[in-house]
Order: sequence, then structure tokens, then C-alpha cells
Amino acid sequence: MDKILFLAFLVLLLVPCRNAEPKFPREFEVLGGLEILDVEENGDEEFELLEFPSWESDCTSKNLVNVEAFGAVGDGTSDDTQAFVNAWKQACPTPKSVFLVPEGRRYLVNAIRFRGPCADKLEIQIEGTIVAPDEPKSWDPKNPRVWLYFYNLTKVLFQGGGVIDGSGSKWWAASCKKNKSNRCKGAPTALTIDSSSAIRVKGLTIQNSQQMHFVISKSDSVRVSDVKVSAPEDSPNTDGIHITESTNVILQNCIIGTGDDCVSIVNASSNIKMKTIYCGPGHGISIGSLGKNNSTGIVEKVVLDNAFLRGSTNGLRIKTWQGGSGYVRAVRYQNVMMQDVSNPIIIDQFYCDSPSACQNQTSAVAVSQIVYRNIIGTSRSQNAMKFACSDTVPCTHIVLNNINLQRKDGTVETYCNSAAGCGYGYIQPSAECLASSDKDIINNREKEAEYLIHTEL
Ligand SMILES: *[C@@H]1O[C@H](CO)[C@@H](O)[C@H](O)[C@H]1NC(C)=O
Ligand SMILES: *[C@@H]1O[C@H](CO)[C@@H](O)[C@H](O)[C@H]1NC(C)=O
Ligand SMILES: *[C@@H]1O[C@H](CO)[C@@H](O)[C@H](O)[C@H]1NC(C)=O
Ligand SMILES: *[C@@H]1O[C@H](CO)[C@@H](O)[C@H](O)[C@H]1NC(C)=O
Ligand SMILES: *[C@@H]1O[C@H](CO)[C@@H](O)[C@H](O)[C@H]1NC(C)=O
Ligand SMILES: *[C@@H]1O[C@H](CO)[C@@H](O)[C@H](O)[C@H]1NC(C)=O
Repeated sequence: MDKILFLAFLVLLLVPCRNAEPKFPREFEVLGGLEILDVEENGDEEFELLEFPSWESDCTSKNLVNVEAFGAVGDGTSDDTQAFVNAWKQACPTPKSVFLVPEGRRYLVNAIRFRGPCADKLEIQIEGTIVAPDEPKSWDPKNPRVWLYFYNLTKVLFQGGGVIDGSGSKWWAASCKKNKSNRCKGAPTALTIDSSSAIRVKGLTIQNSQQMHFVISKSDSVRVSDVKVSAPEDSPNTDGIHITESTNVILQNCIIGTGDDCVSIVNASSNIKMKTIYCGPGHGISIGSLGKNNSTGIVEKVVLDNAFLRGSTNGLRIKTWQGGSGYVRAVRYQNVMMQDVSNPIIIDQFYCDSPSACQNQTSAVAVSQIVYRNIIGTSRSQNAMKFACSDTVPCTHIVLNNINLQRKDGTVETYCNSAAGCGYGYIQPSAECLASSDKDIINNREKEAEYLIHTEL
């Protein structure tokens, strides 16, 4: 008898999916395709596939292009911009070049556009520190939004133990987010890879950027591993890794702590795999924002596997503006540990990051097929799970499996507005509100409860 009661309780506690191990509805087939994104444990395999020999192993056959041979001083105060430009002019068209920024020095450089196409097998080996001028007034006015900008490259390897340092503190102080009387204007991104393919970035540290740290834009097949990004928690708009209009991007073993999103994935991006990501401080691992100013935003096929978020203001976040169109779908978050995160799981279709309030509108970026599996840890706020979806464009097919989010001093709960989905396994806080707008699921839950009790009898 006790057992039956317990089972009945268990069933009522959860909002089961159509099957205990859900076979996803037809629209979910797209999620099957996500498996192919799985990152093999030996991350160097793909590296070999791309035929990048290691720099040390056969440096005899390489053309070493050392920035110092072009007059770079590396004392942190002399302007080495022209030396870098000249070194690039030599390295880019020469096959098997290694563009070398040597260890142990600080090279002060202003904005530079490193343009491709280049000859085969270019490597960019950064061992020393590259620093930006710290004074916004001395910034190159022709390049207001970029610092180290790489464009139109194919099969290029960036690697080394070096540091890219944006010296951003004066830019942050001049931000309108820091002081309302400042005019809102963009600041440079430290490292940009634009319109490129088959790019590998390994081992670099990017820090204190003027604004975003590392932007991957309009690119395909980019693999980033063992990269560290850091900036103070209160530095404005300093996203860690920002992915826009890009496909087949893998981020692996990255440690990111900044004043904005650790990772942000925006429009026209798909097949994005993140594996083993540390985030915090920061605003979390975000999809969006999308749909600003009535625009179309599309992001699909995103997987985050194995992440640790600590002290961030959000955990797993999807943020869209009212009035947008397009969709976010086929997203899977799994094996995530949170520690002291304000909004561990959040879908916010009312995102508004503008000085004036945003009105609700009838159109919105649709959010569907979002799977959360094995998510545990502590929440700083009561709404450990928040699904704030638009009344006219509800979120659908949200799947929860094995969630355990607690709060040190207080209870946690799930907030839903216009969100439908289901759960299986242990779910804390419980998420019945996901089912309330989905009659099928409720009926199914009742049937399943009857069935379980019946079989036990
Ligand atoms: C980009 O590189 C390709 C070759 O890879 C070249 O055909 C094209 O003209 C380049 N585009 C620009 C805008 O430089
Ligand atoms: C904000 O900027 C204004 C004008 O630049 C300045 O007078 C004021 O002291 C600043 N406020 C703070 C809090 O830094
Ligand atoms: C988003 O991407 C789509 C398709 O690539 C494009 O049509 C649309 O203009 C983009 N939206 C924005 C805001 O750039
Ligand atoms: C977006 O569209 C709505 C409805 O058509 C309109 O009221 C609003 O002004 C538009 N917003 C912007 C920023 O263009
Ligand atoms: C919104 O989009 C319209 C039309 O594309 C453009 O004219 C306007 O400047 C945009 N407004 C903002 C605030 O970005
Ligand atoms: C927009 O709609 C949501 C959900 O119905 C509601 O909570 C919120 O108050 C509305 N916001 C505005 C500005 O009307």
C-alpha cells in the first residue's frame, strides 16, 4: 500500500513526458542530429584532420615570421602596430608561415585588420602579450569597433600561451552603462575572426577587452579550446565569446569570467557545441539577445555539455525582445553544475536592455525544443527556473530531466508564463506550471498515474 501511494505521489510530483524516456515528438528529430556534434575526447584528432602540424615538430619546414624582425620593440610603450602590419604582409602570402609574437614581452599595438586570403598552413603563434593603448582618445578612428581583426582566412591555427590584453578600464568608465551621462557608443572587440573557415584557436588568454573579448562572425568550422577570458565583474558589455552568423563552432575547455555573457550566441548561428565550460563571474551562457528592434533572429542546434557556473547572474539563458521574429530551437543543456547563480535556468522573451521601457507586442522570437538534463546546484533567487514566454508566441516543448536546484536560505520555485513542456526523473523545484497550458500532457499524466497504480495492484 505504501509503495502504491509513493508511486502515485511520485507521478503527481512530476509532469511526465509522453513516455518516461521520452521519444521526442516528430519535430524533435532535429535534436537527433545534435549527437554528431559530440566532441571526441581526444581534441587533437580534428586538428590532424585539418593538417595542422605542431609548430615545434617540424619548424625547419616553416617560415618563421617574427614581429621583432620587423621592428617590434615589445617594451609595452613603443607603438608596434606597423611592425605587426609588416610582419603580416610577409607571413600571409608565404606558405607555411608562422606569425610569431615572442614570449616575455609586451607589444603595444593599435587596431589592425589582418586580411586574408593567405597561403596554406598559416599559424599565428602568440607567446608574448599584445596590449592595446589604454586611452580611448588615442584609438584609431578608422576602426572604432575592432582591435585585432582577422578577416577571410581559411585553415588557420591560432595558438600559444600568450595574452591579448585590451587595457579596457578607461573604455569601461566611459560607458553609458557606468555613467548615465555618458553617450552610448560601441567600443572595440579585442579579437575578431570574421568571414573565415576551418579555424582553430588554442590556448590563448584574452583579457580586459574594451568591449567584447572574442567575436566569431560569419564563419564556419571554428574550434576554440583551452582559451581563457577574463575581465572584472563590473566591466560593461565585455562578453567572453560571442558567436554571430556562424555555423559548426566548437568551444571546449574554456574558462570565462567577465562583466557580461560568458558566451553569447546570436542570429543566424547553428550547430554550436560547447563542452567543458567554466563561467563566472558574468551574465551566464546565453542565446540572444535576439529580435531587437523588430528584427529576425534564428539560432538552432546548440549543445552545452559539462559546464560549471559560479556566481553568475544567469545560468542557462535564452533572451529575446518583444516584437522580433524567427526562432530558437533544438537546444540541449546537460551535465551542468551551478553554484550561487541568480537565475540558473531562464527563458526571457521580455528581454529589454534599453534605457526606455519596452512595450509588449504580438510578435516574438519563438522558443521551442529546449532540453535541460542533469542540472544541479544552488540558486541565489527564488525562481530557480523561469520560463517567461510571450502570451502570443508561447514557448513549447521544454523538456526537463533530473534537475536539482536548491537555495541556501529559502525555497525555490519555477515561474512559467505561457510555457509548455514536460519533465521526467527528479525535478526540483517542481515544474507543473509547464504542463498547465498543455492539456495533452495533463491527460497523459492522469492516464499514466492510473496505469502505474493499476499495475502495482
Ligand atoms: C576572400 O578570400 C577568397 C579566397 O579564399 C577570395 O576569392 C575573395 O575575393 C576574398 N574576399 C575578399 C572580400 O577579400
Ligand atoms: C558621470 O559623468 C559626468 C560627466 O562626464 C561626471 O560629471 C560625473 O561625475 C560622472 N559620475 C560618476 C558617478 O562618475
Ligand atoms: C538574421 O539572419 C537572417 C538570416 O540569415 C537575416 O535574414 C536577418 O536579417 C538577420 N537579422 C539580423 C538582425 O541581422
Ligand atoms: C516594431 O513594430 C511594432 C508593431 O508594428 C511598432 O509598433 C514598433 O514601433 C516597432 N518598433 C521598432 C523599434 O521599430
Ligand atoms: C530599427 O530599425 C529601423 C528599420 O530597420 C531603423 O531605421 C532604426 O534606426 C532602428 N532603430 C534602432 C533603435 O536600432
Ligand atoms: C508583458 O506581458 C507579460 C506576460 O503577460 C506581463 O507579465 C508583463 O507585465 C507585460 N509587460 C508590459 C510592459 O505590458
